[in-house]
Amino acid sequence: QGLFTYDPGFVSTAACESKITFIDGTNGVLLHRGYPIEQLAQHSDYLETCYLLIHGELPSNEELGHFKSMVKNHTMVHEQLNHFFNGFRRDAHPMAIMCGVVGALSAFYHDTMDSTDEKHREIAAFRLIAKMPTLAAMCYKYSIGQPFMYPRNDLDYAANFLYMMFGTPCEEFVVNPILAKAMDKIFLLHADHEQNASTSTVRLAGSSGANVFACIASGIAALWGPAHGGANEAVLSMLMEIEDESRIPEFIERAKDKDDSFRLMGFGHRVYKNFDPRAKVMKESCDQVLQELGLEDDPLFKIARRLEQIALEDPYFVERKLYPNVDFYSGIILRAIGIPVSMFTVIFAMARTVGWYSHWNEMVSTDYRIGRPRQLYTGHTKRDYPG
Ligand code: CMC
Repeated sequence: QGLFTYDPGFVSTAACESKITFIDGTNGVLLHRGYPIEQLAQHSDYLETCYLLIHGELPSNEELGHFKSMVKNHTMVHEQLNHFFNGFRRDAHPMAIMCGVVGALSAFYHDTMDSTDEKHREIAAFRLIAKMPTLAAMCYKYSIGQPFMYPRNDLDYAANFLYMMFGTPCEEFVVNPILAKAMDKIFLLHADHEQNASTSTVRLAGSSGANVFACIASGIAALWGPAHGGANEAVLSMLMEIEDESRIPEFIERAKDKDDSFRLMGFGHRVYKNFDPRAKVMKESCDQVLQELGLEDDPLFKIARRLEQIALEDPYFVERKLYPNVDFYSGIILRAIGIPVSMFTVIFAMARTVGWYSHWNEMVSTDYRIGRPRQLYTGHTKRDYPG
């Protein structure tokens, strides 16, 4: 059938070269442009990390100031875009709305869609990073029947998102700085993760010359699945279903049963086979947030900790090198902040937008070919149409 390798699930195929993110799954290492994720989580913030991912170097103070002010310049969305929301049912999943409205950005911002023009690409980046929180918060407001809140550019990125989510025009809303910081850390920890399913989707879509907004919409669609970004929502649903620590063994047994499709959500990773460095930082952040909010006795957090403990000692999980991943603890933090479960994957999408953009930008800045995987044909051999 020709000379190509068969690699279902792309477990051993490198589809591109990239200078953005390095992962050593055996040793639990994640570097963005060479900087360890733990150090970025401690010393940097989301927007600085965005700059780093896109440009390859940490910004000077002046460069960072310019970058932040450009993001602020673009936080509002075109007024006409508001009408899109009215076309959706109020009970639509926010990821369904996000797939639509982010794709629709191509219909509004076609003045910056020439991927061969560096200036167009730069403005598209500002637009995407700036508008994703606005659109995400609009999804939530629409679902609860409240008016959309315009962004507040005097607030930091994460604080502005919380304001647009929870503020109302009726009263002053003061953003809790501890929650804003925790939110920012969640954004930072999800910013990029090399050639995962959604990023590969964005690259593949972009390789045909599709515009950047359409490519990001394709990434959002790929992220939605429970094996990928949808896992953070699935983790919380699972913890709520377990309900009581005494029922953990029952769920562990179900996860091990090959006749049961149930998997322990938030466990396992295609690349990390010892630990997920993001999960470590996330767990620490979770501890801090719950402590600050006086929620140390949160029953779901207790179930999560106990579940982790039991699974980490169980031979099934040990032999298969299944450890908690980034999404195991992120849902507990988001819930403590007051974010509804259906918005969890939207937040992942917001944060990952810069990673998707950076990979698309890296690809279109160099010589590239359209991505065209081959297949192993297993259907009929040639046969004649009857009659
Ligand atoms: N619970 C129970 N068994 C599992 C799990 C799990 N969460 N994950 C993997 N296994 C088993 C699987 O059944 C298989 O067993 P066996 O060898 O006996 O057939 C073995 O471990 C290898 O699993 P796999 O499906 O071949 O591994 P994969 O690399 O294709 O899948 C994964 C990786 C993340 C999709 C998978 O571990 C999973 O479904 N985890 C739960 C969902 C989840 O938490 N996803 C978030 C990933 S991190 C965030 C992101 O990057 O989006």
